[in-house]
Amino acid sequence: MNAEVLVEKTARYVERLFTGEGSGHDWWHIRRVWQNARAIGQKEGADLTVVQLGALLHDIADWKFHGGDEEAGPTAAAAWLRSLGAAEDLVQPICQIIREVTFKGAGVSTMPSTLEAQVVQDADRLDAIGAIGIGRAFAYGGYKGREMYNPAIAPELHATFEAYKTNQAPTLNHFYEKLFLLKDRLNTPSGKQMAQERHDFMEAFVGRFLAEWHGSDPAPE
Ligand code: ADP
Ligand code: NI
Repeated sequence: MNAEVLVEKTARYVERLFTGEGSGHDWWHIRRVWQNARAIGQKEGADLTVVQLGALLHDIADWKFHGGDEEAGPTAAAAWLRSLGAAEDLVQPICQIIREVTFKGAGVSTMPSTLEAQVVQDADRLDAIGAIGIGRAFAYGGYKGREMYNPAIAPELHATFEAYKTNQAPTLNHFYEKLFLLKDRLNTPSGKQMAQERHDFMEAFVGRFLAEWHGSDPAPE
């Protein structure tokens, strides 16, 4: 089976698996990661077949397997790829991407070992920042029943508050806890470039949000 058909069949397979799945990792997230990974991979001279299949399958462990088993994703992806007759020298690097991109370990973040995994990780992180990242953060916070913001729980001091420890911190705190830090964790030059614009947009958004909240946005003429 040629690479193009393999990618297309995998896209339809993942779309079917994730459509209507309430895991928070919807098909549209995967589709955005796929497209950004392809664009970044092209710029960086990565193997686009490995990049695209890795991007499409990177969250497969979140479908059905919620046990936190590190090998659930690679096992499911390998079974799918082998069922299409993919060669082992294609299956293995894809399993490695899934291992390195999805498993978050004990908060340790090391740079993925291959260019292809670095590209997929960049695309996944880009989807957590910028306008899409803002939308996802508030959607997630709403789903968890969290406040958008609480002036008594200063975002920049989030870690010292009980609310943070009980995992009920307002969504705006998540920007300081994670989203504003992501731009410095991108791996590739193209990823970094895209991250900068998205980061600037998020900063402008949070500045404006706080100005409106505290009544310091422009008064009526
Ligand atoms: P991914 O699979 O893309 O690496 P996660 O599973 O960590 O991401 O989170 C999915 C989405 O939910 C991301 O956009 C992330 O920013 C958002 N999210 C995760 N934790 C929080 C939180 N505490 N508050 C707001 N948004 C969150
Ligand atoms: Ni993801």
